[in-house]
Amino acid sequence: MGRRALRKTDPELDLSGHFRELKDLTPPFSATEFFGREAAIEIEIGCGKGLFMSTATRDHADRDFVGIEIAGKYARFAAARLAKSGCENGLMIHGNAEEFLREHLAAEMADAAHVYFPDPWWKKRHRKRRIMNESFLRDVHRILKPGGYLHFWTDVQEYFDEALELLKQRLPFEGPIAVAESPSSHDLDYRTHFERRMRLHDLPVYRSQFLKVD
Ligand SMILES: C[S@@+](CC[C@H](N)C(=O)[O-])C[C@H]1O[C@@H](n2cnc3c(N)ncnc32)[C@H](O)[C@@H]1O
Repeated sequence: MGRRALRKTDPELDLSGHFRELKDLTPPFSATEFFGREAAIEIEIGCGKGLFMSTATRDHADRDFVGIEIAGKYARFAAARLAKSGCENGLMIHGNAEEFLREHLAAEMADAAHVYFPDPWWKKRHRKRRIMNESFLRDVHRILKPGGYLHFWTDVQEYFDEALELLKQRLPFEGPIAVAESPSSHDLDYRTHFERRMRLHDLPVYRSQFLKVD
């Protein structure tokens, strides 16, 4: 399934409150400084067109959300949705999530990390590019507060099984904790665009969450 072209965004839209280039940030990243308040903080890795970021910021105004997306046009598109919605609790960063977590995020700064439908890198010789690798997952564990959750969903069963095995064998998380599919009441009532696509095509989605224990 190919990806549909992005709708045009308004070039006049002011993204300054919702968009940053990773290369312009000096570590460590301070959510308190950026959002101007102390609040629970959630990080989304690989946001695509930003459906999760826009619904989560709207539904949880008391929490702050930072999305990191490696494709500039998607990062800007997701930031434009945030800017249009007027919410002040969402920021999109254009850059590599591995670098962002490793070099910019302090230990125990996040209440949740979300990885939805990461690129599967189908070819065997490309598998090492998968984001759900041990070093990245160690960073996810490090940045989470005790009691924080990693949410991981995919449509690729083999990737799901491999990542769950790695998490169970090598990382000190508790899980996997199963996540039930929730009914959708309208056309955009899905966790992400990829979930929407899979469900509209009656394809399976594999969902899990992991808890960081003390
Ligand atoms: C298959 S798409 C899923 C998008 C979205 N999570 C969803 O479920 O609709 C994977 C996304 O991850 C982004 N991505 C891949 N590697 C990344 C990395 N190292 N850092 C940040 N984003 C990344 C891709 O550009 C792409 O937008």
